[in-house]
Amino acid sequence: MDIRFLLNGEPVALTNVDATQTLLDWLRIDNQLTGTKEGCNEGDCGACTVILIDKEKSIRPLNSCILFLPQIDGKAVRTVEGIRNHKVQDKMVELHGSQCGFCTPGFITSMVAANINRDRDHNTTLAGNLCRCTGYEPIVKAARAAEDEKKPAWVEEDFKQLSHLPKSGSKELPKSKQELAEILNKEPNTQLIAGATDIGLWVNKDFQKFQNVVFLNQVSDFSNIEEQPENWQIGAGITIEKLRSWACVEAPSFAKLLKRYGSTQVRYAATLGGNIANGSPIGDSAPALIAMETDLVLRSSQGQRKIKLENFFMDYKKQDISKGEFLEYFIIPKKNISTKCYKISKRFDQDISSVCGCFNIVLDDGVIKKCVIAFGGMAGIPKRAIHVESKLLNHPWEEKVLQSCRKTWGEDFSPLSDLRSSSDYRQTTAHNLLLRYYYETLGINTNVQDVEP
Ligand SMILES: Cc1cc2nc3c(=O)[nH]c(=O)nc-3n(C[C@H](O)[C@H](O)[C@H](O)COP(=O)(O)OP(=O)(O)OC[C@H]3O[C@@H](n4cnc5c(N)ncnc54)[C@H](O)[C@@H]3O)c2cc1C
Ligand code: FES
Ligand code: FES
Repeated sequence: MDIRFLLNGEPVALTNVDATQTLLDWLRIDNQLTGTKEGCNEGDCGACTVILIDKEKSIRPLNSCILFLPQIDGKAVRTVEGIRNHKVQDKMVELHGSQCGFCTPGFITSMVAANINRDRDHNTTLAGNLCRCTGYEPIVKAARAAEDEKKPAWVEEDFKQLSHLPKSGSKELPKSKQELAEILNKEPNTQLIAGATDIGLWVNKDFQKFQNVVFLNQVSDFSNIEEQPENWQIGAGITIEKLRSWACVEAPSFAKLLKRYGSTQVRYAATLGGNIANGSPIGDSAPALIAMETDLVLRSSQGQRKIKLENFFMDYKKQDISKGEFLEYFIIPKKNISTKCYKISKRFDQDISSVCGCFNIVLDDGVIKKCVIAFGGMAGIPKRAIHVESKLLNHPWEEKVLQSCRKTWGEDFSPLSDLRSSSDYRQTTAHNLLLRYYYETLGINTNVQDVEP
């Protein structure tokens, strides 16, 4: 397939590219642009961070090790070589933010992207960059010391050039949902690629090859958020970062959960549709959306189909999606938006959940009148705790009532023991999260580490 993009301000046109060649390999092997480093090759360390700029004027730091070349079609890439003289570079030298230097180009690109976006939550913007030497303090100080830097001239230069840059028109990069549906109708075994934060690992670590692929990132009206009188409609192509920005205003507890989803680089690439479609039992968005009683709309060339999201997950890695279908959008009822979400993982940042518990509990005069509880990490699929729910329904919101459920969790879940946590830990944690929610409704502080959304 053919693609066009800007690399450090210069137009590039490539023909017959391998659809799953990563940008990192292309930069380092084909172009000797070795400033961008390879550490983990799976999206965890940030050594490979580049800045992606698009016509819509978004500036995103992304991990180039899990970014396929077709995903940058019609966009501008800035590697560390294309950043020129930025104040964060001077401050990193001055404040000893670099020792062995391997991580430094990745830090610089993340810091410059955050600086341009005027994002000053440095602990969060740098959580996807790993440094083994400095202990982070000098790096965060450098980011702070450069906060007053002006937007680099190359940002506007790239915007200007991008407005004249035609997209490639390759058939693997459909522009509409109709086009996508037709491709899938003709070739139902086509591999859909959205943000590639899962698929990138299948390629880099499992060496998977695909016969036919289709990229979703140029499909129009696929990442919209539409407000309806009773609900929110959210396109399956929305990135987790865009979803988080929306949630910060509309669904603060969900926003706190999303803030701990991967890292800045992962959130800017990963999509909600990809997180749900892969059917992972430990994905973070599924329990939250199930507790919010979300509906899912699937689409194919035959039309649309609406189901309850909780029914989408049938069995471990078995989802209710047929060949030729794709996830189109989600419908979240406004009345459920204040669902309380908790993520428990070994590390605070950039870690997969051991347990993720979400509670949509409505009280009327101190009595539980509605109770929808969903968990990730407790079964082979994200799942509701229907026995606990029915035990609580129509009972007073009191500690002794909640404590009486301690054994009921076992009727809903028989979690596995694995490297993240033991089965016992998971059962106990599920119950404790319910109690935690209860204590919080009494105004008791249960947080050992507070998270700002
Ligand atoms: C370093 C790292 C950290 C991570 N941290 C977390 C975390 O904290 N929490 C968490 O939940 N996940 C995490 N993930 C997993 C991953 O980011 C998510 O599962 C992500 O949302 C997948 O979305 P994507 O757009 O990248 O999907 P892709 O990798 O592009 O695709 C994943 C699957 O979904 C399918 N798909 C994508 N879109 C659609 C659609 N619209 N219709 C039908 N099928 C579709 C693809 O065909 C593929 O089978 C992490 C991943 C990495 C690499
Ligand atoms: S090399 Fe580690 S995130 Fe890309
Ligand atoms: S300076 Fe050595 S890993 Fe960061």
